Amino acid sequence: MIAQQFAAGTVSPGALQASMHASLTQGPFLWYANRGTGVVLVALLTLSVAIGVLSTVRAGTPAWPRFATQALHRNISLIAAALLVVHVATAVVDTFVDIRWYDAIIPFRGSYKSYWLGLGAIAFDIIAVVIITSLLRYRLGHRGWRGIHVLTYFAWGVGVFHGIGIGTDSTTAWEAGITAVCIGVVTLALVIRMATWSHERRLAA
Ligand code: HEM
Repeated sequence: MIAQQFAAGTVSPGALQASMHASLTQGPFLWYANRGTGVVLVALLTLSVAIGVLSTVRAGTPAWPRFATQALHRNISLIAAALLVVHVATAVVDTFVDIRWYDAIIPFRGSYKSYWLGLGAIAFDIIAVVIITSLLRYRLGHRGWRGIHVLTYFAWGVGVFHGIGIGTDSTTAWEAGITAVCIGVVTLALVIRMATWSHERRLAA
């Protein structure tokens, strides 16, 4: 409608821009985008954790060498990080709720669902630190890098709790099903990791 008025010359470019801005920041689009990215984010983080554990098992074949598993883990993690930025941006830009950019970094100080949002902020902070330290891995040394990297399990759990607590769709059968599958996959990955870790320790002793 406003586009037609603009074409007819009855609306100024400024008014057209203001109208488009309002429909983006006040309509439901950003809310849907925020919810959608949240669910895909949990699935991607789960995949990243599972493939990360697989890469520590040191399994590889000529057709699928170990470095391919590591590259997959790294790339999925980077896609998840980009999606996390979109997830946060859609929440912040959406004017329907009052979420400031710093609410995504400083936990428990925002006015909107402070507790559940705070859990998301904790997950965000840890994931940011994990990514930065992974990029600086060769400067940090293996022990230091690994000590930080294991925090990913905690970030994943806190992120899942955030989604369950704050999500509009978290009680629907489809989202509860996705969450349950993700919890099952990460639990299995943890069990495998703990088994290989105690095997590594026995070999080292
Ligand atoms: C690793 C970190 C995070 C994960 C895994 C995650 C995941 C999710 C999931 C699964 C949902 C539920 C979607 C739904 O059912 O509607 C959700 C909702 C939401 N998230 Fe996140 N999130 C994370 C971080 C953040 C951060 C840092 C913010 C801060 C801006 C944020 C803001 C929101 C908001 C406002 C909703 C509510 C959407 C609604 O109204 O349903 N999230 N998140």
